Amino acid sequence: MPKESNDIVEEIKSRCNIVDVIGKVVPLKKAGSNYKGLCPFHNEKTPSFNVSEKNQFYHCFGCGKSGDVFTFVQEYYNLDFLGALEKLAEEYGIEIKESFSGGEDKNKCYEMNLQAARYFYKAARGKDSRAIGYMTARGISDDTLKKFGIGWADEKWDSLTLYLKSLGYKEKDMDRVGLISMSKGKVYDKFRSRVIFPIQNTRGKMIGFGGRIVDRGEPKYLNSPESPVFRKKDNLYALNITGSEMSKSGSAILVEGYMDVISLYDRGVKNVTASLGTSLTEGQARLIKRYSPNVVIAYDGDAAGVNAAMRATDILYKEGCRVKVIYIDDGKDPDEFIKENGTAAFMKKVDKAPGFVEYKFDRLLERHDMDSTEERVKFLKEATDVLKVLRPTEREVHIKELAKRTGISEGAIRNELDSEETETGLPGDEAGRKVPVDKSIAPSLIEKTLISVMVADSALMEKRKQVEGAFTSYYGREIYDAMEEAFDSGGTTDPVKIGDGLSEEGRNIFDDITKNIPTAGAEEEIFSDCLKKLDMAGVKREMEELQWKISMAEEDKHRDDIDLWSKRLMELQKKMNMGENK
Ligand code: UTP
Ligand code: MN
Repeated sequence: MPKESNDIVEEIKSRCNIVDVIGKVVPLKKAGSNYKGLCPFHNEKTPSFNVSEKNQFYHCFGCGKSGDVFTFVQEYYNLDFLGALEKLAEEYGIEIKESFSGGEDKNKCYEMNLQAARYFYKAARGKDSRAIGYMTARGISDDTLKKFGIGWADEKWDSLTLYLKSLGYKEKDMDRVGLISMSKGKVYDKFRSRVIFPIQNTRGKMIGFGGRIVDRGEPKYLNSPESPVFRKKDNLYALNITGSEMSKSGSAILVEGYMDVISLYDRGVKNVTASLGTSLTEGQARLIKRYSPNVVIAYDGDAAGVNAAMRATDILYKEGCRVKVIYIDDGKDPDEFIKENGTAAFMKKVDKAPGFVEYKFDRLLERHDMDSTEERVKFLKEATDVLKVLRPTEREVHIKELAKRTGISEGAIRNELDSEETETGLPGDEAGRKVPVDKSIAPSLIEKTLISVMVADSALMEKRKQVEGAFTSYYGREIYDAMEEAFDSGGTTDPVKIGDGLSEEGRNIFDDITKNIPTAGAEEEIFSDCLKKLDMAGVKREMEELQWKISMAEEDKHRDDIDLWSKRLMELQKKMNMGENK
């Protein structure tokens, strides 16, 4: 990882005045030593959104959102940290080293992918192609095939490689975007005998491919691996085509597969998208919300689809979407459903789709025999999990509904909720999301230490939630997610497996960290040491934030807030003193 990265973060912070950056999109008025405007993150008629030039910090007294220039750009423009950094750097004429953002490098990847997409597209119309026949047999019109740029990768081992070489591209670069595989010195085309679904980002750049096998074989779908330009967790399929349809219609339909997107689109349901072969992420939820906050989930009707839908609802809800869910009850997927029953029948399902809480209760009630006391108890536990994630006012409504529906008393439901809450204890802020304060890209010392002890002693992964908050740097977070994935799917922290889930840059950093394995036997002690440090860092951060907020609040208007914050500040000061004297 280049050393310069933190310098760039610092330089951007010092050159991009937060008042200027926010002022471009939120009309701000000077009020005392701060600036004020209407909050862009919630609806309001009188301004409670404050920006402090001195502290380079914003805080909304209405919805509680706060942060620095990076948080603002990320939230407002729905970008990840690197995206925010690039945007600010570009606008303020700050040069980013190529090794850092990979600007020029990325352009090469986009271009090469575009050439590959064109090659596949042409091949689809060539004489040996089986793509058009296959897709036509599945009922997709030629217009739609063209619109989505559907292509064909033939069965030979080197067609694309030779073509890209003839254009002057190097194997090393083809490998970086996963168009070829290299093994034992041999190079071959990654996609063979597959219908190609090109994937573009919202700016229309070609970022990757999905390929469906036409005969029997494994895997059914092959996707481009993570690459400098292909970040599956931050992109969605076909949004460059369907995003405007979402804004127009005021709702977005989320499905599981590429084929579902194309099939619905072909039959006139155009406001549709899908994730890219992985389960839905926070970043994707934020991306959808940018086009429409009203999301209808239409996943497959099998058990896997139902479970995936349940998880996706929570993620969307946390990002502030209004979520409904369609249930296709005979185990079919949206493609099969609309083919059999037609567009009107599908749209009827969309219009009648229940809110996600009701959907979840429906599924839970199917699973439990409510005549059995034992089952009722189990049901209540699971229903409580559903209620737990809701914001207070919504929770109230659904407690009442649930009581009506099941005959379980409101009191019993509330009791169960209370008892669960004291068990779990430590959630994030009210929105359930931690605001990262350490803005660097490269992992900090504590992140590195935690990564290396958890890799060395995989049992520590069981306690990862306690230290999750430490992973605030861009690549630290990426590595943490990959470790979690490896651990959840295979119970290991095998570095090779973790490495598979990382971008190239992420893998370099990870390899670097795991070169220094801690002394065997000391892992637990190191881990708990980190925990203590984190605790203190958290206290310090909260104190700083409180001081900012207090300095921003107007005495007469926010007297109660100020009192509360000052009290909290004193408590923290005490904790700090005790921690230091230990
Ligand atoms: P499905 O197995 O539901 O496929 O996978 P589908 O969309 O119904 O496709 P058809 O109708 O059989 O052609 C849904 C999505 O999961 C990912 C792909 O993104 C696919 O679109 N997937 C599935 C993979 O990445 N790999 C696989 O092997 C299978
Ligand atoms: Mn299907």
